[in-house]
Amino acid sequence: VEPEAAAEMTSLAAARAAVQGCTRCPLYEYATQAVFGEGPAEAEVMFVGEQPGDQEDLAGKPFIGPAGQLFDKALDSVGIDRRRVYVTNAVKHFKFEPRGKRRIHQRPNAGEVKACSFWFGLERELVKPKLIVAMGATAVSSLAGSSTTLSSVRSRVTMLEDGTRMYATVHPSNLLRIPDREEAARERERFVEDLRAIKTLMGP
Ligand code: URA
Repeated sequence: VEPEAAAEMTSLAAARAAVQGCTRCPLYEYATQAVFGEGPAEAEVMFVGEQPGDQEDLAGKPFIGPAGQLFDKALDSVGIDRRRVYVTNAVKHFKFEPRGKRRIHQRPNAGEVKACSFWFGLERELVKPKLIVAMGATAVSSLAGSSTTLSSVRSRVTMLEDGTRMYATVHPSNLLRIPDREEAARERERFVEDLRAIKTLMGP
């Protein structure tokens, strides 16, 4: 497959079709399909996660599994309408390790994140969001560089190189992995507080 020419992808629909032929990194070999972002091309806010999970890989849609359900609930609780925002991932193919019948999520490495920034960059150019919400360390490093840690930018607005505002928060999957119940509840509340701040930044 020839490397896709960015100049030919002048719409989200064209990019969405082309990403299925992507061989920029090895992840395409094992995933069911690439999972492109979803939402209106005129969205003012773009939410970015890490990569599709098991269910997203099968369905071809971002944030529909357990993390997506937590995300939906949290959006609902602060009054952000998911249909009005663009939701995507830094990496478009699911990376996993097979364990019996299960597929265990693996973090994408810096090379995979960089390779996929071609697609994420296209989405950013085509949607031109006013605000990008980075959920988790992978989204933060894709947007702000691998030396930027989530804790150094969390819960506030920072400016990206191209002038777009970024608001960083945790990844909803991380909230599902906290074993201590009280800590989990506290961290969920902090996530909802971040979304409330984002809702305020979004305006009416
Ligand atoms: N985690 C992500 O980062 N993205 C998804 O789409 C699902 C789970």
